[in-house]
Amino acid sequence: MFQAPLPREYADLSSEEAADRIRAAKEKLGKRLVILGHHYQRDEIIEHADFRGDSYKLAKDANQRPEADFIVFCGVHFMAESADILTPDRQQVLLPNLAAGCSMADMANLFQVRACWRQLGEVLGDGLSEVVPVTYINSAANLKAFVGERGGTVCTSTNAPAAVQWALKRGKKVLFFPDQHLGRNTGVKLGADPDRDMVLWNPFAPLGGNTPERIGEATFILWKGHCSVHTRFTVEQIERARGENPNVKVLVHPECPLEVVRMSDHNGSTEFIIKTVESSAPGTAWAIGTEINLVSRLAKQNPDKQIECLDPQICPCSTMYRIHPSFLCLQLERLVVGEVTNLIRVPEEVAQHARTALDRMLKVA
Ligand code: 13P
Ligand code: SF4
Repeated sequence: MFQAPLPREYADLSSEEAADRIRAAKEKLGKRLVILGHHYQRDEIIEHADFRGDSYKLAKDANQRPEADFIVFCGVHFMAESADILTPDRQQVLLPNLAAGCSMADMANLFQVRACWRQLGEVLGDGLSEVVPVTYINSAANLKAFVGERGGTVCTSTNAPAAVQWALKRGKKVLFFPDQHLGRNTGVKLGADPDRDMVLWNPFAPLGGNTPERIGEATFILWKGHCSVHTRFTVEQIERARGENPNVKVLVHPECPLEVVRMSDHNGSTEFIIKTVESSAPGTAWAIGTEINLVSRLAKQNPDKQIECLDPQICPCSTMYRIHPSFLCLQLERLVVGEVTNLIRVPEEVAQHARTALDRMLKVA
């Protein structure tokens, strides 16, 4: 989506000026405004958030302030779309920088997923009715609608195992997109063999690069997508961290590759990572494989523990980072003068089916 450049006045704001002006605008908007902040946002944004969470928690929190007219979403595009789908029409969801997308979500589009479904039908015949599509919440609203219309569900990293179990009660195969790693790690958690029971679907190759036999045998058809942040974590980094401190505990997000998840001590969603660190004993050492803004915040908030990022090169999510305080300031000051910009509105014909899939996700624990 096109984002107009920041007007000069906003581009030149110092961080103190931006923070003061955000606070002032927030005060003026009062109960009409709610700000949601994903854990990967920088501290200068998180300090203004009324609700902070991972994508699962924020999808639920979006509904917590029915009196608000404006939900300003400090996160990425697919999260703002989900908030729009899950809230009443009169509430308007705004994304302060429209260029804040998710490179993983962009690795699957409706055209490609429809082509995959058609080819699966050609190979499986009536067996297509036994394929249940599951999309990670990191996907466009029209893919959530695709899944909703075909008896599938959305999942997040918090409830992926439960969502996939739910799907396998309704069918024999799962088409999981767009993140191959979350799909593979989840299948393995549920007892599947990654070589025997899974195939990778490359959207740029006929039959996803597979033979009809392998598609017929597989329980999991995993879309060839990945997160550029979480695939930076490696087995060598874990070996290095353990070499430096044999007592270190390694904690990673399930968007990391299988070999990294297997070698870690714990893996789980962003909320799981936070709870695990916060509930650990003073003096515990952690090497964490997830986005650096969250890791740095955990280190600041838990000074009695030794916390470091598993990747010494440091890896911010560059699209989350596009929500700069100057964009938030501009968004709020425009609202104060009655200008609604950066509106995220999912067309109702898409939203109704996407809502079905999101509602299923919220029901699956
Ligand atoms: P969470 O579901 O843990 O918030 O993850 C979202 C995300 O984009 C992780 O990269
Ligand atoms: Fe997308 Fe990865 Fe950024 Fe999460 S961390 S928003 S999956 S690019």
